[in-house]
Amino acid sequence: MHFEKLSVDPKVTRINRRVEAIANRALRGWDGLKGKAGLGGRRAAYDDAAYEFVGGARDALRKKHYDKSLRLLWKAEQVAPWSSFRDASEVERALMDAAERGMTADERAARARFSSQEFRDLLDREYTPAEKRAIVAILSKIGHGEAYAWLVSASMLNEVQSTGARAAVTMQIMEEAKHFVVLRELVQAFGVPVPRQSAWEYLLLEGCLKARGLNRFFGMNVLVETIALSLFGVLADKPGLEVLNFFHLDESRHTALPDNYFREFPMSEREKRNLRARLERLLLVLPALPLVIFLEEEFAEIGVDAFDFGGSVLRKAAHLADRAGFDLLLPKDDTLAMINRLFNAYCAATREGHQPRDFMVAETSQGEKVAAVEREIFGPSPAIEA
Ligand SMILES: [Fe+2]
Ligand SMILES: [Fe+2]
Repeated sequence: MHFEKLSVDPKVTRINRRVEAIANRALRGWDGLKGKAGLGGRRAAYDDAAYEFVGGARDALRKKHYDKSLRLLWKAEQVAPWSSFRDASEVERALMDAAERGMTADERAARARFSSQEFRDLLDREYTPAEKRAIVAILSKIGHGEAYAWLVSASMLNEVQSTGARAAVTMQIMEEAKHFVVLRELVQAFGVPVPRQSAWEYLLLEGCLKARGLNRFFGMNVLVETIALSLFGVLADKPGLEVLNFFHLDESRHTALPDNYFREFPMSEREKRNLRARLERLLLVLPALPLVIFLEEEFAEIGVDAFDFGGSVLRKAAHLADRAGFDLLLPKDDTLAMINRLFNAYCAATREGHQPRDFMVAETSQGEKVAAVEREIFGPSPAIEA
């Protein structure tokens, strides 16, 4: 390559460089002082000298969450052909067509490419109006939750350290955006009014968004995502709702993110045990309890005991919280035992002939696919591998 060089006065260049060096020292010195004094300073946790975010590369986190999510990335056009999504690439579309051509007539029917009207007809055939209302009431809870998951994950981007953790959170933001839009179309396809947030969801989700620092990981990734994952686990094997298996898989990775993050950047003892942080976590959990009671009728409509569901969620969330090091006010087993007593007291007061039982051992997730994903997350082994 040949460049036609231009001439520049070297003295001018020297002066230019010197002015910049002085400005640089003053700027960074000033921001550094402000930072130390807690008055702000540099906004971006970015280390331009190392060409990394503060915290370093941390490729393991990136591989476990960003790269793995990309490998498992699902396109709504392929798995929810009734949705308005057109996100498949040319290659994916050609593969879909080729796969269809190679199918027998029966197979093709089984993988029927529903138009939105055909999908609505299927829901009408499979569910009574009361069942549709119940499923929409339950699903819309996650629908509103996805909106907050999108907001909370975006707010975590400037909360975590390292390039790898930012890549992981970035992928979560993208997945939550897709979840929100696809789930909204699924809920709307039922053709029944979509309920607003109940007061309990409002409290729970606003609490997550307003929580301080890493407690947002507890509120959203541990608690709300476990509720979402468990609701998908209840519904993913029902006709027309198979797409929820893909949501379930994504949420399972999101629930593992805090634990994987703390393996790289452990919480300090103060962050774990600080009374204010523990109290804040307890306050985040509290609205989930009346939410379970609030959904009792809808769960009953689809044959699930709301308290079994509540027990199943709380056992899993407590396990994740414990593993990530998020202390609650009481030890995990005492907290679960106390909530179980509350559930039984409520049932004794409202259900005829109620026999006390341990709701915390209940399992409401259905189907082998869902069970396999949950074994990986809630089993005794460490959180997901790359
Ligand atoms: Fe989600
Ligand atoms: Fe999520």
